[in-house]
Amino acid sequence: MKKANWAMVSLVTVALLTLTGAALSSDDNGDRSMFSWLKQAKQGIDPLDSQLYTKECGSCHFPYQPGLLPATSWETIISNLDNHFGENAELAEDDLNTIRNFLLNKAAGRSNYGLPNKIMAAQGDRPLPLRITEMRYFLHEHSDIPKRMVQDNPKVKSFSNCDSCHQSAKQGLYDEHDVNIPGFGRQGD
Ligand code: HEC
Ligand code: HEC
Repeated sequence: MKKANWAMVSLVTVALLTLTGAALSSDDNGDRSMFSWLKQAKQGIDPLDSQLYTKECGSCHFPYQPGLLPATSWETIISNLDNHFGENAELAEDDLNTIRNFLLNKAAGRSNYGLPNKIMAAQGDRPLPLRITEMRYFLHEHSDIPKRMVQDNPKVKSFSNCDSCHQSAKQGLYDEHDVNIPGFGRQGD
């Protein structure tokens, strides 16, 4: 084998070892094997890979993953940042273009991950809202949670604060077994 090929082989080996290490170290509650970790990552949503997005769109609230909304909704949000749910969230032209591409490329319906596909399927041909919390899939999954745990809970306040309850929301994992409603404890067990 040529030198370059050997370099390639060791690169791949290092990558595999790193992946295995990450999988094993995420084994925090004992019952999660490497395979269920891989399965979970696949069922989740594209992880955030744009630091710019996290910085600009995560300063006022949780930086929602692109796969949580369809492209049409993101396009409308991005085109109206001067009046964004009553706030001014305008961006410089360059940043705006980078963030628009980031959101549109990974929007629900354009991603191979499981959750965005489920979100689109549940919506059917109903109108597309601007809020994740108004998508049919979202409403369906959260319909049993009483007001005292959300709006009347000072540690949550609104369904828009995903990471108040979903402990792995930043990693794009919304598994129902990873939910902990502050003041009410773990759910879904
Ligand atoms: C200046 C503060 C601010 C910035 C910066 C900001 N937002 Fe928001 N955003 C808000 C407010 C306020 C709401 C409404 C929250 C509520 O009603 O609880 C909101 C709501 C949202 C929602 C709806 C959440 C839901 O309830 O489903 C989305 C989606 C959203 N923002 C995306 C973005 C994106 C994308 C960016 C970056 C381009 C961004 N936001 C930057 C203030 C901001
Ligand atoms: C008040 C706490 C709370 C907040 C805030 C919240 N969720 Fe949830 N979520 C839950 C609970 C509890 C469940 C499990 C519901 C059940 O299975 O009965 C759930 C379920 C889900 C599921 C389905 C998971 C599965 O394994 O089927 C998804 C996806 C999800 N939430 C996404 C979100 C997103 C995105 C946000 C923010 C826009 C959010 N949630 C905000 C409590 C919350």
